[in-house]
Amino acid sequence: MTTPTIELKPSSHPLSDAERERALASPGFGRYFTDHMVTIKWTEGRGWHDAQLVPYAPLSMDPANMTLHYAQTIFEGLKAYRQPDGTVATFRPDANARRFQASARRLGMPELPVETFVAACDALVKQDKNWVPTNGEESLYLRPFMIASEVGLGVRPANEYLFIVIASPAGAYFTGGVKPVSVWLSQEYVRAVRGGTGAAKTGGNYAASLVAQAQAAQHGCDQVVWLDALERRWIEEMGGMNLYFVYGNKIVTPELSGSLLPGITRDSLLKIATDLGYEAAEGRISVDDWKAATEDGSLTEVFACGTAAVITPVGSVKSEAASWTVGDGKPGEVTMKLRKALLDLQTGATPDTHGWMHPL
Ligand code: PLP
Ligand code: COI
Repeated sequence: MTTPTIELKPSSHPLSDAERERALASPGFGRYFTDHMVTIKWTEGRGWHDAQLVPYAPLSMDPANMTLHYAQTIFEGLKAYRQPDGTVATFRPDANARRFQASARRLGMPELPVETFVAACDALVKQDKNWVPTNGEESLYLRPFMIASEVGLGVRPANEYLFIVIASPAGAYFTGGVKPVSVWLSQEYVRAVRGGTGAAKTGGNYAASLVAQAQAAQHGCDQVVWLDALERRWIEEMGGMNLYFVYGNKIVTPELSGSLLPGITRDSLLKIATDLGYEAAEGRISVDDWKAATEDGSLTEVFACGTAAVITPVGSVKSEAASWTVGDGKPGEVTMKLRKALLDLQTGATPDTHGWMHPL
């Protein structure tokens, strides 16, 4: 497969410098988009072609575009961080590229070569580097995604696709900073089942989660925790984050069941926790285990982790049957230590001993 070189189209600046400064002063999450985007096409028989860095602009689409009807669409999320010397580096873009390939395989879409995925992210960040925030934990969130671009209503894999990377400055994902979230254990709705698309990063998983998220809000909770679809017993993950359970000096994350997303933050924390002297493992945790271990005091903290949300403590749990507080309901010591270690690594405050940072 050929790797197209990315051709730069003449740039225009949809936002003025003053508008960009205003956006960077309070970026929120996914509210503002940078000046450019990368687009690469794929056509059956021709492969990847026409790689371009172009001004950020709306897409024009035929109403019968196959993605709009049958949801052949996948995405990724990764971040670029300002380093102490003013340069910029992304975190594990190759891992996102490989997961993007895995999502493509599951959705019957063509696989973008890892080096093309990384080159596309690099080109956009380099071009729009004045959009990378300079404040502490803030970052530039990159959203690579792929859609079918063929027109037609036949149900089959499309023969044309469009890969795009856009970028958005990111402040805190949850408004209010590092504040423990309350979670709702979803018994009525499930997110995914083994053999389904739960391990792929595809739009349909998120569409299917929204009604449960609304139910969580009705019960006064911030987020949904998904249980396995068969027994409705085993903890899987949250809507956009993986989970970790802290038992004193040991942290445990639900094993990759085939129906939850293999998070890159999750994977990184298995290693960072070991570096910090904690025992880190994957395992199976049931709702009953969660409640019992909270009651006997062996489970000291629970936190969620993901690119957008970094690490967020879980403060309380609610289901149809019960509700309980995790630890003392406040951000735990292990949670906050891991959060700091991860962010220090990403922002260049500590050395990158794993070779995870990709300098631009
Ligand atoms: N689980 C889901 C459903 C997600 O959408 C995400 C976010 O990407 C994660 C977990 C965490 O994955 P990562 O750490 O790679 O961002
Ligand atoms: C991410 O953390 O990158 C996510 O995809 C979570 C959410 C915004 C969908």
